[in-house]
Amino acid sequence: MTNVTGFTERLNLFTLIWGLGNAISTLPEPQTAPIENYDWMHCDEPANDTISQLVLRRLFDDNYNKNTVPLKTSATVVSVEFGIQNIAQVSEISASFTLDLLFSQIWHDPRLRFDHLTNCLQNLTLGYSMVEKLWTPNVCFVNSKKTEIHSSPTPNIFLMIYPNGTVWVNYRLQVQSPCMVDLVLFPMDIMNCELIIESYAYNAAKVKLNWREWQPVFSIAKSKLSDFTLYGLQWTKNSFEYAAGQWDQLTVSLTFSRAYGFYILQMYIPTYSSVFLSFVSFWIDLKALPARITLGVSSLMALTFQYGNVAKNLPRVGYVKSIDVYMVLTTAFIFLTMIEVAFVCYLDSENNLRRKERQAEKKKERVAVLQRKKDRKKNNYGATTVTNANAAESDLRSNYDEPFSQNGTTSHKISISRQANNMFESLHALAQFGLLTDDDDENTKWTAQNVDKFCRKAFPLSFCFLNLIYWCYYLYQNYLAKAEALAQMTPPS
Ligand SMILES: *[C@@H]1O[C@H](CO)[C@@H](O)[C@H](O)[C@H]1NC(C)=O
Ligand SMILES: *[C@@H]1O[C@H](CO)[C@@H](O)[C@H](O)[C@H]1NC(C)=O
Ligand SMILES: *[C@@H]1O[C@H](CO)[C@@H](O)[C@H](O)[C@H]1NC(C)=O
Repeated sequence: MTNVTGFTERLNLFTLIWGLGNAISTLPEPQTAPIENYDWMHCDEPANDTISQLVLRRLFDDNYNKNTVPLKTSATVVSVEFGIQNIAQVSEISASFTLDLLFSQIWHDPRLRFDHLTNCLQNLTLGYSMVEKLWTPNVCFVNSKKTEIHSSPTPNIFLMIYPNGTVWVNYRLQVQSPCMVDLVLFPMDIMNCELIIESYAYNAAKVKLNWREWQPVFSIAKSKLSDFTLYGLQWTKNSFEYAAGQWDQLTVSLTFSRAYGFYILQMYIPTYSSVFLSFVSFWIDLKALPARITLGVSSLMALTFQYGNVAKNLPRVGYVKSIDVYMVLTTAFIFLTMIEVAFVCYLDSENNLRRKERQAEKKKERVAVLQRKKDRKKNNYGATTVTNANAAESDLRSNYDEPFSQNGTTSHKISISRQANNMFESLHALAQFGLLTDDDDENTKWTAQNVDKFCRKAFPLSFCFLNLIYWCYYLYQNYLAKAEALAQMTPPS
């Protein structure tokens, strides 16, 4: 019993499998609409997609070869459109910029026309994978460092074919390209970046590149770069001679001007404040020497720190930048302030030394004067006798010439003047010894106070003057560079 049932079961299973296999083999094949007897001009049903499928199948049949150029006798003209969607980055370190682009190429491929097949389709919009099946002019950015098609999640490619055979391909790309970095005017510099578009495979005899007639290059970028502003957007057409022939070249040039407000806030204002702070030391008394030195040294250190902060984000170039000139200027001023402190210190000690010497000298002098005075006192009697003798003589004489001289007055006068002379000398000695010492110091111009007083005016004035020159020069250079960058290219009319 069990044997029989086992056999029937196996038989049933076999019939089942056999039947299944049969059923699969007799399934109807997927319907393919007949191309030959299709009503091409009948377009009542807009929801019906059959017609575009048929058109596609007709276009990409065996006659179409994507490896050959569309026109055998003349060049295919490719119109290029360049839309900046976003400027992602401009970097002087890597000397490059990164753009998000909407890049369009439009060309005419008569092999793809379908207006003779149907009137029902105004255009044929296709998926990104169809680009692989088309002949494309192989237009690329020849100077880019990196280019990639955005794929989020599928490649951002737009492809449309018009009934007359015009093909429009649009890519959303991210392009990284080199920039000319010239930091001579940094941070008032400008950056010139270029993108060169060429057909990689076909020379001008096969593919001619042209900018689209109306506004081929435009920017729809909404976000602004933080440190640069795009102020020049130019385009031009050139041709370039390679070994394999002449190639058409389209160039887009973007000029970025650095927003130097950041550097004014982060670099110029702090350094100005430290320079002016170092000038404060001219108002500090020389007795507070450590305060003056601390002021100078800390200003110098603050300056170095500020400069280091800026310089660390810059490429190491071998020429002098505008900011270097500024740094040299400010460092020189702080340095000179320190030198002034040292000089004033030296003057002070020298003057003190001289004063002491002078005082010692004067003491000696005074002693000598006193000595002389004593001597004179001693001699005074002798002197008076002489005077008396003189007086007697003159008396005698006056007797003869009475109307000319008055008797006795001369001798009296002489003695009074001599007394006054003596008194003045002793006063002078007293003065030298004590109160009027500074009278002599004023004769020497190079005192610490005078130098400080002079520097209080000279340093800030000369610093302001040099800064004025600095800013005028570099802002003018900045203006010139911008004007030159704009004049460099004139868009082809
Ligand atoms: C589309 O139209 C054709 C002929 O006009 C018809 O044969 C076909 O069944 C239609 N397809 C659909 C999915 O409606
Ligand atoms: C493409 O065709 C559709 C209708 O099929 C039309 O609405 C659209 O405007 C056309 N696009 C262009 C760019 O011609
Ligand atoms: C093909 O048709 C499109 C859209 O109508 C038009 O812009 C284009 O100039 C045409 N191309 C040619 C070669 O006629």
